[in-house]
Amino acid sequence: MRKTGAPSGLSRREIINARLHVVVALFVVWLIVTSPWVSMLRRIPSDAGFFDYAHVVVGWLALVCGVLYAVSVAGGGRLRQYLPGKTAGIGGVIEGLLLLALLATALTGALWFFLQGSADAITWRSLHIYSARALIGLGLAHVVAVAAHLLDF
Ligand code: HEM
Ligand code: HEM
Repeated sequence: MRKTGAPSGLSRREIINARLHVVVALFVVWLIVTSPWVSMLRRIPSDAGFFDYAHVVVGWLALVCGVLYAVSVAGGGRLRQYLPGKTAGIGGVIEGLLLLALLATALTGALWFFLQGSADAITWRSLHIYSARALIGLGLAHVVAVAAHLLDF
């Protein structure tokens, strides 16, 4: 039984989740696609370019929206939809890992931001790059799983 009877038949939470999903997906695609033009090493360089600043701003937005999305989609007893077991299929487990990789990537980026200039910044930068690669792999798996689901293989 759904509590709010929106015309679409979706609950308010489902509508918010769908919007957040679009926003998070667009931010992540931007961050990944533009990353070849991002080069900041130890700190935001004094001659930072558009894509450096854009990465920091969009990265922070992705962190905020990603946390809201993860809580909204997996909070309140819905976490088991994303854990291996009776209720989650392979697609759900991929989504769960994808959410984890998103949070790890955003958090390691944020830690780099706070530790700029220190040797630790270099450590968080490389952890950020590893988690971004995991995010890319899982994102591709997610798109394939969703496409397979829609085509009903
Ligand atoms: C980091 C980026 C992404 C994250 C964290 C993410 C996460 C998720 C999650 C958790 C769900 C399940 C939502 C629910 O059950 O309410 C989902 C569904 C879906 N995702 Fe993503 N996603 C991302 C990127 C993408 C991209 C780039 C596409 C576009 C190809 C996409 C297409 C879809 C579709 C079509 C569904 C609905 C699947 C269905 O109804 O069976 N996602 N996503
Ligand atoms: C979900 C959010 C984020 C995603 C998906 C993302 C993605 C990426 C990707 C794909 C790279 C390139 C990795 C490579 O060179 O192979 C990268 C590099 C980097 N990102 Fe992010 N990022 C995010 C958030 C952030 C945040 C919040 C910050 C800091 C405010 C940040 C700072 C950096 C830095 C410093 C680099 C290394 C640039 C360099 O010196 O080459 N990122 N990120």
